[in-house]
Amino acid sequence: MAFANGTGSIEPKPSDIILGCKKCTHGNKVTVDFPDAVFTFHAQWLHDARCDDGASKNAATAICQQPISTVHAETVQLSSRGASMTLDVTWDDGLASKFPAIWLRAMAPLVARFDSPEAALKQSGVQGWLVDTLKIPEISYHEIFPEEAEKEDLDNITINILDQLLGKSAPGIVKIIDLPDPNIEDERNHKNNINTQVLKRLFGSVFVHPIRGSDQTFNVSSHSDDAKRAVGIPNYDTTQLLLPHSDHAFYDNPIQVQGFYGLEGESENTWVSVLAILATLKQESPDLYEHLCKAPMALGRVSRFYGDPLYQATVDTAITMEPGSQDRVKRVRWHPNLTGSLLSPYDEYQKARLAHQKFDEIMRRDTHQLKLIFKPGDLYIWDNFRLLHGRERVLEVPRTGVGQTVPEQVVHDRYRALHVDVLKKYVDERWLIHMPMRQLREMLRLVKGHYWLDG
Ligand SMILES: [Fe+2]
Repeated sequence: MAFANGTGSIEPKPSDIILGCKKCTHGNKVTVDFPDAVFTFHAQWLHDARCDDGASKNAATAICQQPISTVHAETVQLSSRGASMTLDVTWDDGLASKFPAIWLRAMAPLVARFDSPEAALKQSGVQGWLVDTLKIPEISYHEIFPEEAEKEDLDNITINILDQLLGKSAPGIVKIIDLPDPNIEDERNHKNNINTQVLKRLFGSVFVHPIRGSDQTFNVSSHSDDAKRAVGIPNYDTTQLLLPHSDHAFYDNPIQVQGFYGLEGESENTWVSVLAILATLKQESPDLYEHLCKAPMALGRVSRFYGDPLYQATVDTAITMEPGSQDRVKRVRWHPNLTGSLLSPYDEYQKARLAHQKFDEIMRRDTHQLKLIFKPGDLYIWDNFRLLHGRERVLEVPRTGVGQTVPEQVVHDRYRALHVDVLKKYVDERWLIHMPMRQLREMLRLVKGHYWLDG
């Protein structure tokens, strides 16, 4: 579909990002014809989101200070071509805006009305992975630490790795291969660890523990000082079955990414995709799915092996959705060993209890729970918000695993910065400041896939 009017002096070509545009009679709505879909925006939303004068607002321009529906589009037209194409709007308050076309296309599915009757927008249908469909991507250490590389190349490599970890349809786990030999003493002493070096290269920094200090790993060991200090303390016995769990489940703000490096010994370790467990739960017991997502639980622990013990606890649901969403999972929080009790209201308790039991039962199935022999020199990195991990048994001692983690905000900032660095070559940076991460990823996909990059 291309509109006969409102397209200004541009004669659209099929390769343009926008083929046409028009406003409604009163200027309350603006309809934009993209090659794959037609969307109608509230004119007021466009006015709210305009960044022509910068991303920040002052007391006079803050949207909460302005009544709704007092501004209207007077004219709409297209200008420029290719990557720099814009939708130009003049407003009846005297302002004018130039909306970048790829910015509009990336934002449209979130806020605009979808008007194409002939085709539905592609749905990704994210279901996580089952054991027989998972292929863990292997990334060479030399790719992350090349002898020579331009910043741009290194950034692209990092984006690709982070996509494997964080992308909604990605495995959420990668294996780093071709690692150098470890310095055994450093690794045992929590310092200069390979795991920390890799995570710092990918994310910039790692979690700062309040007692261990910066850049120090947590070592899960059968024979270190940690193990001696932990003797007799529940949950620190490294010979026991460790059910699938997320790390930092007892923190208000759990870490998002973690790496685990095998220094010595062997064990059978497990990983499971939470999206896949939820898909099965939804299919087999839809009512229990609702209860799992709604039931609050208490999780806590005391770490007596520190000089002054750490007392940590939080209350949350097992599943946290993205803000404003009923079904897009942001995070799992799960640690059977450290969960106290459910805090559901009396009438919902039994269903909620059943939902937790069923969630655990599904994740232990052979179809869902990946079992791998974890050996010296193995380094796995995964998304702690979407994958649970555990340990079936220790096969060979002495055994030491070296763990390191990255906070959510560090992950988020890094992923965002990498995208903005690429996208600001196409769109002024101010248009990217308020974009949700999902839209930044979509925009990068549009940029990468578009013809005008080739020439
Ligand atoms: Fe863990």
